[in-house]
Amino acid sequence: MQSVIIFASGGGSNAAAIIQYFRGQSNVRVAMIVSNNPNAGVLDIAKREEIPFLIVDRKAFSESLFLEQLATAEPALLILAGFLWKIPESLVKAYPGKIINIHPALLPGYGGKGMYGIHVHKAVLEARERESGITIHYVNERYDDGATVLQAHCPVMSDDTPQVLAARVLKLEHYFYPRTIGFLLEQIAG
Ligand code: GAR
Repeated sequence: MQSVIIFASGGGSNAAAIIQYFRGQSNVRVAMIVSNNPNAGVLDIAKREEIPFLIVDRKAFSESLFLEQLATAEPALLILAGFLWKIPESLVKAYPGKIINIHPALLPGYGGKGMYGIHVHKAVLEARERESGITIHYVNERYDDGATVLQAHCPVMSDDTPQVLAARVLKLEHYFYPRTIGFLLEQIAG
């Protein structure tokens, strides 16, 4: 049995897609959901799915306690799915090559601090790009900088609004993120 932990700050549609994908697989379980936002929709998903969750608070944050709490799940992978905190260096060191993120654009373009969610799609449209997509990548100490695992592309239409483009990109996320996680877990299991 391999456990994964999902980190999310928002609605959690990727978290829902991942949970759904692995529901029928007895060898993978979503053992915990972590959020920095006590009002995040992803916590409703955690409650509905009866998945233990952890809310982290910047003011009361203890790195050592956080590491201990995560370790209880013995995670094979830590999965960032719209998690808007920068991952502490201690976490990157504790889980080398085991933390992945999804970004809603084709990195290295449109990444870095402040580039999340709808801001990314606005920037892509302002630059009149013909193409956008997703990047699934390993997480290191810098924003959106780790090695790429997978990119998938989609067209940008001339009449796209940020919301329309976001929806097109999100479809790629929901399809490719769970499958890429499954692939990486197989590699880890050997
Ligand atoms: C997703 O589009 C994800 O790619 C993006 O946040 C959204 C979360 O949606 N992440 C970033 O922008 C990271 N820089 P969700 O809560 O519905 O899964």
